[in-house]
Parts: sequence; structure tokens; C-alpha cells
Amino acid sequence: MIINTIAELREKVKEWRKSGLTIGLVPTMGALHNGHKSLIDKSVSKCDRTVVSVFVNPIQFCPGEDLDKYPRTLKEDEALVAEAGADIVFAPTPKEMYGEGHILSNDFLTYVVPPYFYVDKLCGKSRVGHFDGVCTVVNKLFNIVQPDYAFFGEKDRQQLIILKKMVKDLNIPLEIISCPIVREESGLALSSRNKYLNEEQKKDALALSKILFNIKACYNKGITDTKALAETAYAYLNSNHSLEYLEFRDENDLEEKKIADDNTIVFIALKIGDVRLIDNIKLS
Ligand code: PAJ
Repeated sequence: MIINTIAELREKVKEWRKSGLTIGLVPTMGALHNGHKSLIDKSVSKCDRTVVSVFVNPIQFCPGEDLDKYPRTLKEDEALVAEAGADIVFAPTPKEMYGEGHILSNDFLTYVVPPYFYVDKLCGKSRVGHFDGVCTVVNKLFNIVQPDYAFFGEKDRQQLIILKKMVKDLNIPLEIISCPIVREESGLALSSRNKYLNEEQKKDALALSKILFNIKACYNKGITDTKALAETAYAYLNSNHSLEYLEFRDENDLEEKKIADDNTIVFIALKIGDVRLIDNIKLS
């Protein structure tokens, strides 16, 4: 069942609450794939009712990013959600979420702003304001659905860490459930943005997971100096790659690690043509 308005969704949620049912929320931007499906499956198995939101959130895109060309496949998304056994696709318009004229500047909209320490690094460095947009829309979705559980993927690990911090700092009464990265057999992490890659670029995209898997193998052999671990990446890079970052950070607070340990996450972002891809792996 698809719902487009906040009022209608609130009515539905109220009914469920009256019947004492637990509610899971899976926030997405659509173009759903098996990575999203793993989150939906988890929610369906844990909760009595599941809402999947499909909303390409304009305020988390920076100027010059892919807001206009971001894939929109609502019909297919609806089918995947129904097949997975979830109850509702919530697909609002930007106007429904942000009001008349969708006033998106923070001169006119109340934003939820995550701590600077969490956003001045990794994706936050090149995507200035991105996590303000993410926290704001996710907070709105939490207020609209008031779920018991919300499901997020480790694919966007910085986002997951920031949202957990938001829930803790703002005492939001729900639990965030984190879900492992779903990959193709080749190792490539599933992503809606993989649709932008041609065949050759898809081969080049394997560098991300190869670099991460190799670093993990080196760590397991006993190498813990992160500089030495980072240097192993060069073997996988060619002139089609533009490396944005390869960093070693703590899984809870994103503090930089000079010496890797079992709580270390290796984060990578690289561009192939104008397609920007991210991936990460935990060393343990
Ligand atoms: P989107 O990129 O559509 O991702 C929705 C959720 O699916 C996120 O929690 C993301 O981490 C998870 N996901 C994507 N690919 C995955 C994979 N290969 N394995 C496991 N999980 C995966 O992230 C967003 O949308 C937005 O920022 C959003 C949170 C919806 C706010 O607009």
C-alpha cells in the first residue's frame, strides 16, 4: 500500500498503536536493491508492521550533486516492498515534507545539525551540509512514524554513526538497528548509484572492495600501522580512479586511528569519472 501524505500515514500508525503493534521504519531514497531489501527483511521479521519511506531528500544534496538525475523507480520499489512483506511505502513529495515552495534554506527551515566533530571528516568534508539534511529528514520521519525500531545499513557507516549519536543526544525513543553491507559476488557493495556505472567503470569500481579486503587480510596477518596499511591500496588504483579518502577511524566516535585495532573501520571514497562511490570495512 502506498501513502503519499503525512496525515494519512499518521492515521494508519495510530490504528496500529491502538492495537499494540510494534512498528519498524526503513528510510530510503528508493531505487531499491537487495541492500535495501535486507533492511526491510530485518524489519519485517522483528516488527509487527513495517513502513518503508521512499523520498529523494533534496536538502541532503549539495549544489552540483545528482539530485535531478538520482534514479526514481517507484513502481518497482513498491513491488519489492510488497514482495518483502512490508506494509506501507511512504512516498511524499518535497512539498509534502517541506511545505509550499519547499523552502530549503536554513534561513527558513528548522534543521537538526549533528556535531562538528562528526561531520568535518570523511563524506562531510566534501559534502558540506549533507548530514544536516540527513539528520533533519530522518528526524522528521521519526516524528511522523514514531517507530519502535529504525533500520540503517553499515554501507553508509558515517551516516549510521551520526544518526545513533542524534538518537542518543536528543533522547529519541527508538532503537536503531544496524544491518551489514550487502555485496555482489564480485565484492562490489550494492548502491543505487551503481546504476550510473558503465561496464568498464563497474570493473574499476571493484577497487574499493579489493582495497578494503586486502587491508583486512594484512591486518589479520598482524600489520597494525595504518600508514603501512593505507599504502597497500596503490596496487589497486589506476588512472581512472580519483581517490577522495582512505581513512582509519574508531567505530563509535570516528576518532582517527594511527594503530589499527578491532574497533577500527576503514573508510574509502573514490570517484570513477563523475560517479562517487563509498565503502567501508570493520577490522575484526
Ligand atoms: P539510501 O541511499 O537509499 O539508503 C537507504 C538505507 O539503505 C541506508 O540505511 C543505507 O545504508 C542502506 N543501504 C544501501 N545500500 C546498502 C547495502 N549495499 N547494504 C546494506 N545496506 C545498504 O541513506 C539514505 O538513502 C538516505 O541518506 C536516508 C537515510 C534515507 C535519508 O534520506
